Amino acid sequence: MTQDEMKQKVAEAALAYVKPGTIVGVGTGSTANMFIDALASMKGDIIGAVASSEATAARLAGHGITVLDLNEALTQVASLSVYIDGADEFDAGKNLTKGGGGALTREKIVAAASDAFICIVDESKRVDCLGAFPLPIEVIPMARELVAGIARKLGGNPVLRDGFITDNGNLIIDVHGLKITDARALEDELNSVPGVVTNGIFSHQGADVVLMGTPAGVETIR
Ligand code: A5P
Repeated sequence: MTQDEMKQKVAEAALAYVKPGTIVGVGTGSTANMFIDALASMKGDIIGAVASSEATAARLAGHGITVLDLNEALTQVASLSVYIDGADEFDAGKNLTKGGGGALTREKIVAAASDAFICIVDESKRVDCLGAFPLPIEVIPMARELVAGIARKLGGNPVLRDGFITDNGNLIIDVHGLKITDARALEDELNSVPGVVTNGIFSHQGADVVLMGTPAGVETIR
């Protein structure tokens, strides 16, 4: 089975977590795109979806799925029933790194507004230690060098994502070479730096369930 076939399987498996009559949070990336395409078959069953990026909103709308602004959604319901998204890495504790597509801040907001996070990945995303995938940090432009200096002190090699502006109008610094042994502590430490909007460690908003595509089928990790 190819990597894309494994992604397709987990995208389809995630439909089982979509409850009729609710609002669904939807992530960003190639696996999330496959989920959006599958979700089209349920568009008449759900109230609508909240998107974690402009790209996701456009793809949802292209399928005729109602796209709600998060603030609008939370006037209708106390929380979104589920958030479904991919990840760049996940560990045994279901901590994630995300943001390869640069949508980490909105992804974390929508995940925080949801009752459960179902993470859809192929098996290449499983790691013993987070950090081999460069860790994205969204920063307000004025704080770029401040945050880069702190990333160096933490043992990382910060690289500005060239020519990239987030949906929120900010920059992304990708920090290479980190070995993230305490995901929760590093998430908190980086988020405490003035000018950091958020970083790509999802420990507070880690996955509740990981659906992992393997050549043998979909493995459910709770
Ligand atoms: C987007 O900002 C990321 O957090 C994605 O969720 C992540 O990069 C996974 O993308 P793929 O499904 O394309 O691997």
